[in-house]
Amino acid sequence: MRKKIEESAVGARARKKQHVASRGARVFDLPTRYARPLNQETLLERRKVAPQKKAILAGAHFEMVQLAKSLNFDLVAVCDPAKTGPWHDFLVYGQDEEAIVSHPCDGVILAIDDSQLRAKVQTYYAGLGVEALNVLGGTIDSSSSYGPGLVACQMSIVTTECTLGEGVRLNVGATVMHDCSVGDFTTLAPHALLLGHVTVEEECYIGAKATILPGLRVGRGSVVGAGAVVTKDVPPGRIVKGVPAR
Ligand SMILES: CC(C)(COP(=O)(O)OP(=O)(O)OC[C@H]1O[C@@H](n2cnc3c(N)ncnc32)[C@H](O)[C@@H]1OP(=O)(O)O)[C@@H](O)C(=O)NCCC(=O)NCCS
Repeated sequence: MRKKIEESAVGARARKKQHVASRGARVFDLPTRYARPLNQETLLERRKVAPQKKAILAGAHFEMVQLAKSLNFDLVAVCDPAKTGPWHDFLVYGQDEEAIVSHPCDGVILAIDDSQLRAKVQTYYAGLGVEALNVLGGTIDSSSSYGPGLVACQMSIVTTECTLGEGVRLNVGATVMHDCSVGDFTTLAPHALLLGHVTVEEECYIGAKATILPGLRVGRGSVVGAGAVVTKDVPPGRIVKGVPAR
């Protein structure tokens, strides 16, 4: 009887192990499903680093992980304090910028939402002659321009005659309408919307689904809360939220 109980305990452990392994496999499949339309042909500009070279990728996006894998990047530094331990086969550095910049590499993709951290890391690598790669997962009209280190997620759109500085981050579904200007290291969270002739200065954060009405200016380093509707210019260094944003 005792032997039977021991055997069944062993069986239960084995089954649990198998279950955990299959759960792991399902989680592992997730980025592939999300990232199916993306590949290095469409995403990574040809003029940039050769795919076989090593690069560091920072950021926790499924499509970025997929891209990193397809390019044989050797490291991803996930800038998310909530994540611990290895993630999708890559190392995780949390928000430890010392650790992020400690890795020698030939190119960086910086899918970091935090503008200041992104600016620091990109500037550090630029000083070493390491290029910030452009990842074009969305649609950018050919009449618009952008600097190095643009990471534009799926479904992001930049329409006509826009100017994007260096290190701009467009999260999933972010939309930049005609004649906008987006300053260096500014982040647009998912589905943020800049209507025509909007200027968002450097290192701003425009929250998810926030809308900036036409012709307005958001001053340097300002934060616009999720879901806000901005109806007046925002002075530099301010946090505004709500409808209308205050
Ligand atoms: C606005 C924001 C930057 C926080 O600003 P904050 O001034 O530090 O706000 P706090 O968290 O201290 O909250 C202060 C008050 O504002 C409210 N508030 C917070 N965010 C708000 C928002 N987006 N819209 C309306 N009210 C908001 C809070 O409920 C709180 O209200 P209370 O005083 O009545 O309790 C943040 O809430 C936000 O919206 N960030 C963007 C998040 C995002 O888009 N993430 C995308 C991830 S991919």
